Amino acid sequence: MNPMLVVDNLRAGYAGVPVVHGASLHVARGEIVSIIGANGAGKSTLVACLCGLVQPMSGRVMMDGRDVTAVPAHRRQASGIAVVLEGRHLFPELSVRDNLAIAEATGERQRRGHRRLTRDEVFELFPVVRERLASPVGLLSGGQQQMVAIARALLLQPDLLVLDELTTGLAPIVVKDILNVLTRLRDRGLSLLLVEQSIRIAADLSDRSYVMSVGRMVHEVGADDWPRLLADDALVKAYLHG
Ligand SMILES: Nc1ncnc2c1ncn2[C@@H]1O[C@H](COP(=O)(O)OP(=O)(O)OP(=O)(O)O)[C@@H](O)[C@H]1O
Ligand SMILES: [Mg+2]
Repeated sequence: MNPMLVVDNLRAGYAGVPVVHGASLHVARGEIVSIIGANGAGKSTLVACLCGLVQPMSGRVMMDGRDVTAVPAHRRQASGIAVVLEGRHLFPELSVRDNLAIAEATGERQRRGHRRLTRDEVFELFPVVRERLASPVGLLSGGQQQMVAIARALLLQPDLLVLDELTTGLAPIVVKDILNVLTRLRDRGLSLLLVEQSIRIAADLSDRSYVMSVGRMVHEVGADDWPRLLADDALVKAYLHG
């Protein structure tokens, strides 16, 4: 197997204090991989390294064999990584249309020749986004905003979509809709890296998962390993907070 994303021995933190202590992982083309772990484990810091918002102290982020560790955030999409950050980071006063237009222009400029999805195909995945094009994003429900955030990331035409805390705080019916879309995206060859609070969602959706604790990957879990993992009370308590 030739992994598309390789994170190798990454150390990263804030003001010189590391919170990620040598984390390594990989994602293959067309794979859904999850990272689960307790609050403060360093998951979002790792995601920030993937999109260039935090510069690691050491270690590497490789995409398609290319070292992208030092590529700045505004150029990171060019390497095929798009991220939906925890909290979405949309522009609430701007319309849905304008939020998407910014990403679409970036996707066209930085990912020429790599286009996977047209704007209409994205609207087909999320019909409600098309219906709300004229609305300021801030007036949409949490679930609708999350769909706009995913649509925006897709218009960056990534090969790898990274989603931090995608489902937290959303109604189960919305979560179901969004997870269906993720499966359809995977079927079209997109790779997905999810940071997920819900073990159930990680277990149902992922080809593989990593358990992260105190800045490191402490377990790698294959799709068939979940029953064994979840039966291990001590492990669940230690790393996943029940
Ligand atoms: N901007 C920041 N400045 C300083 N410390 C930070 C910053 N962001 C995160 N931290 C600290 O880094 C550690 C890891 O945080 P991080 O947000 O990466 O964890 P997480 O696994 O995503 O947690 P959660 O499940 O709560 O989202 C925590 O101790 C946190 O307080
Ligand atoms: Mg986080």
